[in-house]
This record gives sequence, C-alpha cells and structure tokens, in this order.
Amino acid sequence: MPQLRNLSLFTKTTLATALILVLFFGVMAFWTYQQKRQDMLEEAVTRARLIASETVQTREYLSKHLRLGQVRLSDERYALIPIVASNRVGQLVAQEGGFRLRQISDRFRNPDNAPDGFEKAVLASFAENPYMRESYALTEEDDVPTLRYLQPFRADESCLVCHGRPEDAPDFIRARFSVETDQAYNYSIGEIIGAVSISLPLTRLQNQLQLSLQGDFLYLGGVFLGLILCLGLLIRANVTRPLTALSAAMNRVIRTGHFDERLPGRGDDEIGRVIEGFNQVVERVGDGIRQLEASEHRFRALTDNVRDGMVSFLPDGKVILFNHRAEAIFGYSRSEVLGMDIARLIAPMQETGAETLVRFLEETLESRDGGLLTLKGLRRDLEPLALEVSLSRASSDGHTFFTVMVRPKEGPTD
Ligand code: HEC
Repeated sequence: MPQLRNLSLFTKTTLATALILVLFFGVMAFWTYQQKRQDMLEEAVTRARLIASETVQTREYLSKHLRLGQVRLSDERYALIPIVASNRVGQLVAQEGGFRLRQISDRFRNPDNAPDGFEKAVLASFAENPYMRESYALTEEDDVPTLRYLQPFRADESCLVCHGRPEDAPDFIRARFSVETDQAYNYSIGEIIGAVSISLPLTRLQNQLQLSLQGDFLYLGGVFLGLILCLGLLIRANVTRPLTALSAAMNRVIRTGHFDERLPGRGDDEIGRVIEGFNQVVERVGDGIRQLEASEHRFRALTDNVRDGMVSFLPDGKVILFNHRAEAIFGYSRSEVLGMDIARLIAPMQETGAETLVRFLEETLESRDGGLLTLKGLRRDLEPLALEVSLSRASSDGHTFFTVMVRPKEGPTD
C-alpha cells in the first residue's frame, strides 16, 4: 500500500490509533452486550420460576386444606379441584402481568390444556430425564422475544385419586371423564403427568437492554473521541509540528544556501536532539563554507598579483582560472572566460579544439622540461598576439589541470 506510506505522520498515527481503539471498543461493546443479555435472561428465568412456584404452592395449599377441612369435591365444586383452581388463579395473574400460564399434559383431560409443539418436545425430554427440574429457552412468538419456561409435574400419591385406576376415582370425575375416552387415568407414581408452562414476553426487558446499551455506546463513543482528540493534539504538538518546522528549515537551507538558519531548541527529547543536531550541522557547514570563501579570496588576490597572465584549465579545455593580467592580455573579463574552451585563446587551435592543444601541450611538457614556448594567441577583438608561454601540470583531488603563464613577446609578431 504505497499510498499509505505517503500519508502524513499525523494521519498515520491517528488512523492506527483509531483502528486499535475501534477494535478494542468493539470487543468491549460486544462483551457488554452479551453480559447484559445474559443478565436479562437470568432475570426473566427467575421471574418465571417464581410464577411456577406460586402455581404449585396454590395447588398444594388448596389440596391440603380441602383434606384438613374434609371438603368433599363434587361436580358443583369442580372449580375447587386444586389443579383447576391453581390453573385459574395462575391465568388471572398472568392476564394482569402480561404473560401466559398454562398447565399442560400429553394426556390432557381438558383440550384447552393440550401442549403446543414446543411444549410437546420439552415434555418428552422431561420424560427421558427424571432429574430435570425445569427447562427454558428464548424464542420469538409473533416477532416478540419470549422466554418459554416449563416445570414438570410428577404424579404422587395424591394425584392418583383422580389420575390412578379409574375405578378408584370419585364418581363425579368418572361421570365427566369417561373411562373409555379419557387418557388422564392410570398414571403411576413418579411418572410425568404434565407441566406448568409459562410464556414471558421480554419486550420490556429488551427495551431496557437497548436503552442501557445505547447509554454504553454513547459513553464509549465519548471516551473514544476524547482519546483520539487528546492523542492527536499530543502528537501534533510534540511530533508533527516540530518535524514540519525542521523539514521546512532544511528546505530553506538547501534552496538558498544560507547556512545561518537556526531552529529554537526544545528540551532533550528525541526530536529535541534531532533539532540540536540540525543546528550543529548547519553551523559547521556554514563555518566551512566561510573558510573556503576566505581562502579562495586570498588565492585570487595572490594570483592577481602575479605579473604574468595566468590561465588554468582542465584536460577538456575548460578554463578554471584567469587572473587580472590575463584579462589585460586577452581582453576578456574573468567572468566571460571561466568555463570557456582554452582553444579559443590560441590562434592555431581555434579550429582543432582543446583536444589537439592538450595533446600538443602534453608532448611539449615531456620534451621541453618546462622551458619557454612561443605561441600565437588571439585577443577578444581577434587581434593576434605573440606570446611567450611557460607550462605546468598539477593535480588536485585526483583531477589533472594545466596552468599556462603568458607574457606578450617583445618584438614584432611573425
Ligand atoms: C380431585 C381430582 C384430581 C386430583 C386429586 C388431581 N387432578 Fe389433575 N385433573 C383433574 C381434572 C378434573 C382435570 C381437568 C381440569 C380441567 O378441566 O381443566 C385435571 C387436569 C390436570 C392437568 C392438566 C392437563 C389435563 O389433563 O387437562 C394436570 C397437569 C394435572 N391434572 C396434574 C395433576 C397432578 C400433578 C395431580 C397431583 C398433585 C393432580 N392432577 C391431582 C382432577 C384431579
């Protein structure tokens, strides 16, 4: 991703921090949500357990006191049958509480108590696991999240009066539920006879969960933004600002060549040390350049005081030194001649160029051992010049260059 690399340091760090924080807060939010959902479910289950317990208690209480009061049940007192009464009381409470309560059985007497698909499956698992005390699940009933909760009833001695052998059942029961068609007789002790089944809509709890999650997200989002903002400001003040100033100063130095640029110091942290280093480098280079300029100045004064013309050039013919006297002899100014081809100053070499001249000078150097040489020069105004020339070769920094000392020859030119 080369585009990413070219983003500013500020953008990159902010992006990276934002990414990490988003991940962190995402995980945290998910975890909080799971936790709250679990809490909500537990609260609902506790409530369902309480409702179921109340139903069972009502039945048992009624059953006990009918027995103690020796109340004889009959068709007229049908509503006092403990299971019937507790079911009815449960339903009345359920109506008020906005939930649903039923007492159901596979082998129901009253078709109103027939189990639905969900209840059937739970009843089957109760029958398989004699130790199961309850069963619940979160489902959707008509798009409403609903807790389904069931607690099994196992037949005991007291139940068998009406659910045991038909011939032992009270007459009014046998009269109402024919032995041939009723399926709720012939239970044995411990057998699953049915269950209390509660459906608890979780709309209110769900709303609470949503509200508290919204609060959490707002809070987390606030913290998140605050953190990003603080980090951004910190990075900006401590890293990107000073770095931008540094790179701008470097650019100015490179562009202008003025080595008097200094940045204000800022403590002894990493960036402070870089800035300090920059200041020192600029100072040293500036000193070096000033020294170089001074030495060049001295050198020029020296060459300008020589009484002969003095011309230095590189093996490719490029003139690199031209003193005062040479200016007078050739009629060129120094600035015109620096970088020019030396061959233009020597009449016979005008056409052949620097290469021939250099070769000629090399050969001469070898054979004549530095003696004087007569050459035909050419002034700027193209007037010919008779010149006495002495030649030397030197090298500096691995570069060879030639220096000719020139003096107009006395007497007539030929
Ligand atoms: C006095 C007789 C009597 C006794 C004792 C009795 N039941 Fe029932 N039971 C009934 C009648 C009658 C019904 C039908 C209720 C109705 O019409 O809704 C019934 C219904 C039920 C139902 C609802 C399913 C269905 O068949 O409609 C369950 C569950 C149940 N009884 C469990 C028990 C248990 C458990 C006990 C013992 C703790 C018990 N009963 C004791 C008479 C009795």
